[in-house]
Amino acid sequence: MSQRDLVQGGGALFRDTGQDGLMHRAFLRAEGFSAEDVRRSPVIGIANSASELNPCNAGLTEAAEYVKEGIREAGGLPLEFPTISISEPFSRPTSLYLRNLMSMDVEEMVSSTPIDGVVLLGGCDKTVPAQIMGALSANKPAVMLVAGHRPVSCFKQNREFTVDDVWPLCEQRRVGEVDDADWLELEGALNIGVGTCNVMGTATTMAAVAELLGFALPGSALQPAGSEARKELARAVGRQIVANVAANLRPTDVVTDASLENAFRIVCALGGSTNAVIHLEAIAGRAGLSIGGERFEEWSSTTPYVANVRPGGSRLLTELDEAGGVPAVVSHIRELLHLDAVTAEGRTWTETLSDRVYGEHPAIAPRSAPLSERGALVMLTGNLAPRGAVFKAAGAHDPRLQQHRGRAVVFDGIADLNARIDDPALDVDRDSILVLRGMGVLGAPGMPEVGHIPIPGKLHKEGVRDMVRLSDARMSGTSTGSVVLHITPEAVAGGPLGLLQTGDEIELDVANGTIRHFVDDEELARRTPFENRNAPQRGFAWLHQKHVLQADAGCDFDFLRAAGTWA
Ligand code: FES
Repeated sequence: MSQRDLVQGGGALFRDTGQDGLMHRAFLRAEGFSAEDVRRSPVIGIANSASELNPCNAGLTEAAEYVKEGIREAGGLPLEFPTISISEPFSRPTSLYLRNLMSMDVEEMVSSTPIDGVVLLGGCDKTVPAQIMGALSANKPAVMLVAGHRPVSCFKQNREFTVDDVWPLCEQRRVGEVDDADWLELEGALNIGVGTCNVMGTATTMAAVAELLGFALPGSALQPAGSEARKELARAVGRQIVANVAANLRPTDVVTDASLENAFRIVCALGGSTNAVIHLEAIAGRAGLSIGGERFEEWSSTTPYVANVRPGGSRLLTELDEAGGVPAVVSHIRELLHLDAVTAEGRTWTETLSDRVYGEHPAIAPRSAPLSERGALVMLTGNLAPRGAVFKAAGAHDPRLQQHRGRAVVFDGIADLNARIDDPALDVDRDSILVLRGMGVLGAPGMPEVGHIPIPGKLHKEGVRDMVRLSDARMSGTSTGSVVLHITPEAVAGGPLGLLQTGDEIELDVANGTIRHFVDDEELARRTPFENRNAPQRGFAWLHQKHVLQADAGCDFDFLRAAGTWA
């Protein structure tokens, strides 16, 4: 017996006729399971990230019960367990800071407990990639069920109020254009039910990725939280994991170069979140693969942007679901995808699409008139981002800014930004380029979603709504704007971003995929590098600071990349 077999056990431990089996069954009997229950097979774990500290995932408590029904229908024994849950709004310093920790929790729970396979219940942005990364490293059969998006609400005259509508209101509040009464009304109107953000933000983007990577059932990403369809889907997920255990379909069978390409092309076709670039690279790393900026750009530049959903487009997620959801988009760009890749149903995409017919629908632009001929994410390089950066072309932008040269106005961290952005004396105009640094995965730490730098108050009052902004931070998938993100290396890791000064000339050229500064090398050599003031001495903060990789490696920990824990 290998070291792994001694430490890690599957559900066979419950079927053992000796002491191990007796002890396993006896402990479950104490929970109220019957003699028949504890002999059911296979044993399926349900990794549940439901938490009151994560309202997006709160509906997963109920969903778990429907998953259990499906598992029992198929003969299995469901055993639910909790994991860390990461809420986008509630996590400090940022949700990404905790993603790898959650992935380790999932990996070790799946590896080290007597289960044959696992159902992953996730939803809010980082919970989905964390679960995929952990399950991939554990490599037991896994099927994912996401929480689904929350309902749209109503605020003032807007009867289809979605989460992206809140950002302009926050800007208006900053400059005194939203009064206290409206601010209070907004608090009650913003989220009228549990579930994930109701536009193509990071959560729904990663839910679509889960379909293409063979973790989630085709068509499961867009069904609303709490809907009857999602309850039936939960039962189907329960039945499917039992089938996948029987077929021994493992995560390393479905996460391949082909499925990673499929996943990113779908992100591009959907106008999905910039965060997907980081998570896909991290997921690839867990399978012993890598993608890299050049391939991301090659795939994006040859994939049309077709899903007309918010925040980049105008339609609701429910409309894209009506159109057929992710499989309809797969069908729409099918000649660009590897249709022999395997889904969570254990079938190829060719087989999956063979029994589905999709008509025209306004939520999916025809191939003859896509929203854009190329994907919504543009990978940038240049002397300001030697190892890459990303620009999201989807959404409302001032087209003039996609080819723009301007003068930098530099902010060192979020405290400096908050202190000066609305100062009437700030030396800035509409052609300036706002630069925020010290917000990378080491510097912040965890790359908070602050890259959508607010428009300076005095310019907002003049009607300016978009400017070129750049940083080593991330941005919410629900945001849009002329924003350059994930500049790598980050400022505290020796990136040129750390050497910029207010007044330096910068040029963004989206068409040519470049972000450049015009400071000569001698001048740069005279400047003082940006200092990393984070020096934690213990605990997870120490581990993170010592082992986290830059954005171009997916911000995973160096010791977690590559498949195969045990020799
Ligand atoms: Fe949780 Fe958006 S804040 S999905």
